Amino acid sequence: MKRFKKLVVGNWKMNPETLIEAKKIATSVKRAAKSLKRTEIVLCPPFIFLSSLLTGKSKGISFGAQDAFYESAGPYTGEVSSRELSGLGIDYIIIGHSERRARGESDETINKKVKVTVGDGMTAILCIGEKERDHQGEYLHFVKKQIISGLKDVSKKSLDRVVIAYEPVWAVGAREAMPPREVQEMSIFIKKVLRDLFGVLSDGVRVLYGGDVTVGNVLEIVRDGKVSGLLIGRESLKVKNFIEIAKIADSAK
Ligand code: PGA
Repeated sequence: MKRFKKLVVGNWKMNPETLIEAKKIATSVKRAAKSLKRTEIVLCPPFIFLSSLLTGKSKGISFGAQDAFYESAGPYTGEVSSRELSGLGIDYIIIGHSERRARGESDETINKKVKVTVGDGMTAILCIGEKERDHQGEYLHFVKKQIISGLKDVSKKSLDRVVIAYEPVWAVGAREAMPPREVQEMSIFIKKVLRDLFGVLSDGVRVLYGGDVTVGNVLEIVRDGKVSGLLIGRESLKVKNFIEIAKIADSAK
């Protein structure tokens, strides 16, 4: 059975303001990534910085984009295609982040983006997560539906190029992460939905957690939440904290 590394993904969102700052963060993270044993760091800066930061292979680190358009070329003002990103040497694409869904990105568009990303040989980080919790378990149906529609017509064979990032929307950008026991429950639930959809997966599918991950809670989330990695927003721009988070995740059993 293929052993995946843990993933620590830094989603820089629309930050930082300058290339100088972006280079500073990426250089420090690249240096630190070399000492990680079981973990791969994925930096996802804004599109405009990608080609300057991608300066050849470096141990323990890859680059990702925060979105990709599904058509490969044509009259789509403002879009950047999956094909273009793959040509640049990008390995991962974040798809369906809650901040994009909140601004109107539909399940159908997300599904097209997932398919084209895996088709172009990259790994899709499909973001899912409920907006709120209820006592009747409606949120489970909501998450299940996001998985089913996000992975519609994706073949079982391409599933090793899909990572699920579970991010309860109420924890993203908030001051409260999900308790590790609930993270574990969700990770089990997501894997069950995948098994029901695709049958037993020999390689498994990595499930990440995102939403207020910090130096203070990362150990519990990885160890007790039993996730294969993390999607990190704010703390990924604070170099010292981000490196510390990656080291703790790396050492967590
Ligand atoms: P946060 O964001 O770590 O700042 O909560 C997570 C995300 O948006 O992926």
